Amino acid sequence: MTNPSHVRPHHRAAPLPATGCPVRLEPVRLDSEAVQGSLADLYEPWREEYGPVVPVELDGGVPAFLVIGHRTLREVCSQESLYSPDSRNWADLQAGRVPDDWPLLPQVAYQEGSTRFLSGPEHQRLRGVLASGLTQVEAASARRYTEWVADRLISRFAPKGRTEVVADYAAPLPLLVMLRLLGLPHETGEQLLPAIFRLLEGGPEAHRANEEISDIIGRLVVARRAKPDRDLISWLIHGPVDGGPALSDLEVRNLAWLTVMAGAGGTTGWIGNAIERLVCDEQVHTLFLAGKVTVAEIMNETHWSNPAVQNVMGRYPLREGRLGNYHVPKGALLVLGLAAANADPEVHVDDSGHTFTNESHLAFGAGPHECPTAAQRLAKIVGQTAVERFLARCRTPRLQDADAVQHGGSVIVRQLTRLAVTFGADTQAAVRPTASGTDALGESSRSSHYLFPPRMLTQLTSHLTD
Ligand code: HEM
Repeated sequence: MTNPSHVRPHHRAAPLPATGCPVRLEPVRLDSEAVQGSLADLYEPWREEYGPVVPVELDGGVPAFLVIGHRTLREVCSQESLYSPDSRNWADLQAGRVPDDWPLLPQVAYQEGSTRFLSGPEHQRLRGVLASGLTQVEAASARRYTEWVADRLISRFAPKGRTEVVADYAAPLPLLVMLRLLGLPHETGEQLLPAIFRLLEGGPEAHRANEEISDIIGRLVVARRAKPDRDLISWLIHGPVDGGPALSDLEVRNLAWLTVMAGAGGTTGWIGNAIERLVCDEQVHTLFLAGKVTVAEIMNETHWSNPAVQNVMGRYPLREGRLGNYHVPKGALLVLGLAAANADPEVHVDDSGHTFTNESHLAFGAGPHECPTAAQRLAKIVGQTAVERFLARCRTPRLQDADAVQHGGSVIVRQLTRLAVTFGADTQAAVRPTASGTDALGESSRSSHYLFPPRMLTQLTSHLTD
């Protein structure tokens, strides 16, 4: 196995001939050791020195270009025929120059049938059927279910008056909603959570966890192929597919799993970042308590200042060409710097308060692979409901101690991993009573609460009996 420190880049950044402004040649070291703490201050000096595209060396000396200019990033994202999302075009990977144990490999490793790596008609076929399914999610049902899951989780830690927000709340909540969206009963979703966390941690247990998850999703696919229900898996199998044949079981499994991972990962980060903002930023907290900003506005602001997905790996030029101030070779790795591009002074809506309402941020990406509109709508329902419920029941949350906030992952995939808070529990807000005296969903209906309307089943079964 190659030692990461011995990776030799096959290319070096080549600046274009003088354009009037000096351009630096040496790449920036952007590995976990080189950069600690806040990334916010990094980008501006780079913009001055390098322009909208920065040659970087990632962990293990792996070379890449970080796209930090707003306009350039949109350009790259919108031209699939020039900048492919398929990592099999990455020259360093193809040539075996990236070690098997490179920590960022899971972010780029090609997965068959995942929309992320596809382009053209094949991409449109899979994305289309997924998006048409997500469009049918009933907002009120999704909100009620999220609220119910939120209440169950909060009830576990509320009596203690303290919690670690990421592990106890922000991580399990969206996962449980996404698993229910696929069609798993709530209890099966809860049983699956430890395996999902083992998979995400990697290490020796990950392989067994992966088998456990594949097995459960595989069985769900077989069951729904035989008899559809009101869920996403049934839609992927039996729903109308524009532009190609019906999806195979493998495609359904991969697409379902992509939805769980993309959906839960993004929403977890968003919930955590928004609560962090409220807890750590005295000014925002005061505005919120005074009713001058809403939860929705604070959450929109975090899309600008601290997006859940900071960087996306990646895009791969299919031919050599100019990008920013550099000649970028064919097969280079381009990292989409979403957080950096959001901060580009060219578009950044400074301190005037517009970031609370302006939605032209890049937190959901851009171009043909931008997070589907229906997925963004679901993220908003789940994320906002989760934060609102948390604040209703956990009054004036405060950081527990000096180590209360921690970030993990690499510089590229940077996530909040710990947010330990204390709060005053609001027992009045603990249970949402309904006319029947049960909680918002009714305990007994928890497994069978649907996120999709009854008409979806009619549509799917009539298609079967045609
Ligand atoms: C706040 C929450 C979320 C954030 C920040 C987020 C962010 C993103 C970003 C940045 C991309 C673009 C990746 C690229 O360019 O390669 C993306 C794509 C995607 N997201 Fe989201 N996402 C969120 C929630 C969701 C949810 C709830 C779902 C599903 C229910 C979802 C499903 C997807 C899918 C399927 C793609 C791939 C689209 C394609 O390749 O065509 N996301 N998301």
